[in-house]
Amino acid sequence: MLIAGNWKMNGGVALLDELAAIAAKAADTPQVDVAIFPPFTLIAPAVAQAGTVIIGGQDCHQVAAGAYTGSTSASMLVDAGATQVLCGHSERRAGFGETNQMVRAKAETALAAGLHVVICVGENRADRDNRRAGHVVGAQLDGSVPPSGTAETMVVAYEPAWAIGSGRTPTAAEISGMHDLIRAKLIQILGEDGACVRILYGGSVSPANAAEILGIPDVDGALVGGASLTAADFVPIITAAANVSQ
Ligand code: PGA
Repeated sequence: MLIAGNWKMNGGVALLDELAAIAAKAADTPQVDVAIFPPFTLIAPAVAQAGTVIIGGQDCHQVAAGAYTGSTSASMLVDAGATQVLCGHSERRAGFGETNQMVRAKAETALAAGLHVVICVGENRADRDNRRAGHVVGAQLDGSVPPSGTAETMVVAYEPAWAIGSGRTPTAAEISGMHDLIRAKLIQILGEDGACVRILYGGSVSPANAAEILGIPDVDGALVGGASLTAADFVPIITAAANVSQ
């Protein structure tokens, strides 16, 4: 199991107090991998006190270096101590025009820099209402999964955009059905290795629903936004993962 927290554009150094409490829990729960994706400004100080918590970036540029004002390269993340990066979060796809092609390029650049990648996919509300969710997610995987990714270096996060920050989640059957589809697609793209890539669910995961969601077959962990901002909410999600892992 991997429980990952995406802090998005939130927090200053004071938020590292929450990381300290999360790191204490992670040290006590070695059967669960725990990751935090803080804003860029907090990566280096977060690494300094992360203990066993994996620290990652929320994005990187698809080009290795150069005249891209305001951007952060994969090797800069490595330099700051990060070991992972999110690629193609739905807020990047919807708000910053990231295409599948860009997401794949970012992932390839990140892998080449030595980072592990979390490829995010997920349909919007209209796609689900029009029964196009499977088609959309399949096309996102076809377009954005880097062929050089492996089960060791890559994780896929299924995050329906309509479930993010909304307090609404798909049913267990919907999550299970989509994870099955993602698994089949990963095997198609990567061959045997696709059977072992971890698939996370993300979108309004909370202490209240974590046990149920993490208990769904082929859910290998969670990508958590709002509930990762406090140890009070995030630690019970790690506990739920530990209980499922037993
Ligand atoms: P949420 O965000 O848990 O606040 O819904 C999840 C995400 O965007 O990764």
